[in-house]
Amino acid sequence: MAVLTLADACLAFGHVALLDHAALALEPGERVGLIGRNGTGKSSLLKILAGIDLVDDGTLQVQQGLRRCYLPQEPLFAPGLTVFDAVSEGVAEVRDLRARYEAHDASEDLDALQTRIEALSGWTWEQRVDATLERLGLNPETKVDALSGGLKKRVALAQALVAAPDLLLLDEPTNHLDLDAILWLQDLLINFAGTLMVITHDRAFLDAVSTRIIELDRGQIRSYPGNYAAFEASKVYELQNEALANARADKLLAQEEIWIRKGVEARRTRSVARIGRLEQLRATRLRGATWWARCVSRPIPARLAASWWPNWTV
Ligand SMILES: Nc1ncnc2c1ncn2[C@@H]1O[C@H](COP(=O)(O)OP(=O)(O)O)[C@@H](O)[C@H]1O
Ligand SMILES: [Mg+2]
Repeated sequence: MAVLTLADACLAFGHVALLDHAALALEPGERVGLIGRNGTGKSSLLKILAGIDLVDDGTLQVQQGLRRCYLPQEPLFAPGLTVFDAVSEGVAEVRDLRARYEAHDASEDLDALQTRIEALSGWTWEQRVDATLERLGLNPETKVDALSGGLKKRVALAQALVAAPDLLLLDEPTNHLDLDAILWLQDLLINFAGTLMVITHDRAFLDAVSTRIIELDRGQIRSYPGNYAAFEASKVYELQNEALANARADKLLAQEEIWIRKGVEARRTRSVARIGRLEQLRATRLRGATWWARCVSRPIPARLAASWWPNWTV
């Protein structure tokens, strides 16, 4: 069963549709790479899946109890935090549970607390935070406010990773990372037990990590199983098929234009159907057509048509 399902989703800023009745379902354990040209709406889509923004129309269904964690493209932090505090926000739930467990309050159900802490790997959260800070080259004592944009992004990444959620949504996580840190992150994500969706322009990273690529293009979401190399191969095949279909349509259009110039008995049913098909062909080939094809696709004035095709009556 899908952990999250987006159906018939529409989203627009102004008159540009970023999502145009788009659909998407994420299955447990898959690692999805979200790609598309800049400005197509990848970050906007990820914010919707994270539950931060809403679609204009359509539905987002999320599995009950699903823990989502989102790394924004441009993270923001509350003022005055140290790196350690900021990263520990990622384990806020388990940190609070542990504090309650260790307080031994008589009114607490300690068994229930213990089960929940174990489910969230909560006994070792400090080690997880320390190890993550070390691998990302972050000093726990430093004030986040004093960090560059790149280092702030690392802090936000650390915060998302230590949370160990069911669904991890990462917007361009490898920006500002050196090669060692990228390889470490790749490894961590490959071994991540939850579901992952990541936006990145790093093809090597996508090749290593992703089990599916989805492409956002002019409001539509297309899905390609496998990594980036598999996506490229599918895309080449798709484009070849498209080119072949276009060439066939162009050839047919050229033949039909010659036929109609020879003079047509328009009242015959077969000719009417054939003229209808030609009109359709002209319309569908307009976008990719050469300039001359566009010229002949314009409506022809009735008097001129009558002089070309004496048998034409409409
Ligand atoms: N809150 C917003 N208000 C107005 N326009 C927005 C908003 N968020 C995004 N956009 C616009 O939507 C388009 C897609 O943005 P974005 O989702 O960041 O794309 P991507 O991540 O693919 O580069 C851009 O043209 C951007 O300016
Ligand atoms: Mg973006």
